[in-house]
Amino acid sequence: MNTEPKPRIKTPRRRNFTLRQLKLFEAVARTGSFTRTAEELHLTQPAVSNQIKQLEDQIGTPLFEHIGRKISPTEVGRELVAFSRDISQRIDEFENLLDDIKGLHHGVLNVAVVSTAEYFSPYLLARFCSHHPGITVNLDVTNRDAVLKQLADNAPDMAIMGVPPDGANLVAQSFMPNPLVVVAAPDHALATMKDVPIERVVRERFIIREPGSGTRDAFERFLMKSGWRLQNSMEMSSNEAIKHAVMAGLGLGVVSLHTLEMELKLGRLAIVDLVDFPLERHWYLVHRQGKRFSVAAQSLKTFILTEAAQAVLPALPGRITRSKVKR
Ligand code: PGA
Repeated sequence: MNTEPKPRIKTPRRRNFTLRQLKLFEAVARTGSFTRTAEELHLTQPAVSNQIKQLEDQIGTPLFEHIGRKISPTEVGRELVAFSRDISQRIDEFENLLDDIKGLHHGVLNVAVVSTAEYFSPYLLARFCSHHPGITVNLDVTNRDAVLKQLADNAPDMAIMGVPPDGANLVAQSFMPNPLVVVAAPDHALATMKDVPIERVVRERFIIREPGSGTRDAFERFLMKSGWRLQNSMEMSSNEAIKHAVMAGLGLGVVSLHTLEMELKLGRLAIVDLVDFPLERHWYLVHRQGKRFSVAAQSLKTFILTEAAQAVLPALPGRITRSKVKR
């Protein structure tokens, strides 16, 4: 009969310390004081000592030694400090992950758009929100200067605008053409003329957007480059006001083709067949460099960059053959 003792299979002993105890232990190691830990965690000093005592009993060895009035971790204590920090970092990471996963279902995004983008961005957002009904998107419609200021203040998650200035710490990705055209009332002498030279239109009264508008900025750059100046202009601070003023016969207007869907369909405005026009511009999705996107914001960004090209751009009249508008 074999009388040798059977080898004992060691089962690892689980120690039942809690995350709360670890957090408290880490605070004592950091502050070097039960009293300060108690203040920090809004506990009594005996409650802190009691928890540390229980933890030491579980682990089976002292975690702190008293040197004068100060306490510092023992060798095992130092190891436990490292583990506690590791664990709390992993918990933070998990919570971030959870927020991100929830982020696709819930959340609020802030998007700033220049006023001309109001003609297509609500349609884009409607499509995005139909896929993500829990996400709220606030749209702030303002002009180019105001959007740049908001981006500088890191207020919106992202913005839609014409090309942003260089060196503004911004990332800009173009996603759709934004042709700029000159419009006239259908009964205006230039409405049906072909190949109208720029020197002919600068004699007309123009209704142009306010300073700070991207549309105005682009038109002024064009005039400066071509060496012409408007002889007579009036300012209006919205595309709608400009279109109505042009329909009313006040003069010619400069607007993005995106603003004209209804008026072209109804024949209320005509695009002037101006040489070198439409001005070829693009829409950009813009955000600050190094911006940390939530999952919801990232998915809106991807959606705009990939889906916006489907947005309806009114067709240019057939007689405007020089169109450089490429889709
Ligand atoms: P705006 O911008 O609405 O401020 O004129 C339009 C653009 O930048 O194209």
